[in-house]
Amino acid sequence: MKRLGVNIDHIATVRQARKTNEPDPINAIGMIELAGADSIVMHIREDRRHTQDRDLDIARKIIKTRLNLEMAPTQEMIKIALDIKPDTVTLVPERREELTTEGGLEVALNLESFKKYTRLFHDADITVSLFIDPDIDQVKSAHRAGADVIEISTARYCESKTMQEQETNVQQIINAVTTAEKLKLGIAAGHGLTYINVEPITRIDAITEYNIGHTIIARAVFVGIGQAVAEMKERINQR
Ligand code: PXP
Repeated sequence: MKRLGVNIDHIATVRQARKTNEPDPINAIGMIELAGADSIVMHIREDRRHTQDRDLDIARKIIKTRLNLEMAPTQEMIKIALDIKPDTVTLVPERREELTTEGGLEVALNLESFKKYTRLFHDADITVSLFIDPDIDQVKSAHRAGADVIEISTARYCESKTMQEQETNVQQIINAVTTAEKLKLGIAAGHGLTYINVEPITRIDAITEYNIGHTIIARAVFVGIGQAVAEMKERINQR
C-alpha cells in the first residue's frame, strides 16, 4: 500500500487570508487521518504565511499517524524542529518571494552542511528527508549526507506542457528513483501533483509515499476533506 502524506498548509492559507480563526487546520487532522492519510505534512515558513507556531504545537499533540515537518534548514527552524520533535523533517529550500517551494535542495554543493543537519536530527531520533530534483548527483549526495529518505520533486513533471516533455520528466524521475533504490533510500514524491496528473507517477513502484497538499484542499472545498483524502489514497493505490 502506497502511503499518502496530506499537507494541510492551505487550510491555514484560507484562515490567514482574513487573519481570523477559521478554518482551523487542527479541526481537519482527525478527519484526514480517519480518511486514510498516513501522515500530516506541515510547512512552517519564515514569513508564517500559512501554518503558525500554534498550529504546529497543537498538531504535534494530537496527530495519531506521523508528523512530517517541512522546513528550510535555518537556525530558527532547526530550533523549532528540535523542540516540536516531528517524526520526520523534510528539508526544503525556501525563498521569501516564492509562491510555493521552487525546485529542490542543492545538496551536492553543500554536502558538509547537510551532513551536519542529518546528524543533528538523527541525534534527536527524527527521520530526515531531503527534497531534491530528480537528479542522480543530488540523490547520491543525499545518501552521502546521511538522509533516510529523499522526496523527489515532481514540480517539473507537473509543469510539462507537452506529452513528450512529460515523458522526459517521468524518465528523469525513474532514473533518480533507480539510483535511490540501489542506495536503499526511502523514496517519496511530491509537489504539484493533482488527481489528474498523479497516475503516471503512481506507476513507479519504488515510490512508496506521496506528499500532496493543494489539490486535496482544493477538492475538499467541494466534497469535504474526508472524501478528498480517500479519493487520493485510492488513486495512488490504483494498480
Ligand atoms: N512536498 C514538498 C517538499 C513541498 O514543499 C510541497 C509544497 O508545500 C508539497 C510536497 C505539496 O505540494 P502541493 O501543495 O503542490 O501538493
